[in-house]
Amino acid sequence: MLKISASILSADFAHLADDIADAEAAGVDGLHIDVMDGHFVPNITMGPAVVTGVASVATVPIDAHLMITDPRKYAGEFITAGVSRLCFHPETVEDPMALLEEIRDMGAEAGFAISPDYDVAANAWLLSRADYLLVMTVYPGFSGQKFMPDALENVRASRRIFDRDIAVDGGVAPETARSVHEAGGNMFIVASAIFKKTDRKAAVAALRAAAFGEG
Ligand code: DX5
Ligand code: ZN
Repeated sequence: MLKISASILSADFAHLADDIADAEAAGVDGLHIDVMDGHFVPNITMGPAVVTGVASVATVPIDAHLMITDPRKYAGEFITAGVSRLCFHPETVEDPMALLEEIRDMGAEAGFAISPDYDVAANAWLLSRADYLLVMTVYPGFSGQKFMPDALENVRASRRIFDRDIAVDGGVAPETARSVHEAGGNMFIVASAIFKKTDRKAAVAALRAAAFGEG
């Protein structure tokens, strides 16, 4: 089943509750929080306090994508704040397996986020231990970047070794949705193609239609 999680990175932060309600009414399956620390990536975004606020109004599950140099230090705070799925970039920690286990022990599903240059085949055993994978089709850091078609190879390589959710993150839009879905991505993480559109219902419908080749 195709799922869509709306990344609030492109929402209007002055009217976040309204944008969340609008995305939920449009039929998204989840909300995606992009956490950036200005070290692992050049941008600074949201912390646990924002998740607490989002969780107080959200009716769909919240997943967080940690783009920070020390995910181990902060994972617990995000789970306490209301995140039910948490992923991190495996190269940021010494023992990625151990952090997967710690996240599970704290009650959330644990995933790996894969940057475009990450070698999926060389790390297949490790990746297969995750509850879900998030494969990036842009370099982490900002919403609104151009989709990288070459990164679909990581989606295909992940699908060969993994039968649970593969989320694809970065530049997913009606123009790219079909290729993402065909490569094996069953979850779309979408910021601009939902929140930068005025009609969110039409935007979400267009993503689903395009995934199945009707766009
Ligand atoms: C980028 C983030 C993405 C971003 C996607 O580092 O991980 O989740 O919000 O934005 P769009 O959909 O605009 O490419
Ligand atoms: Zn993300």
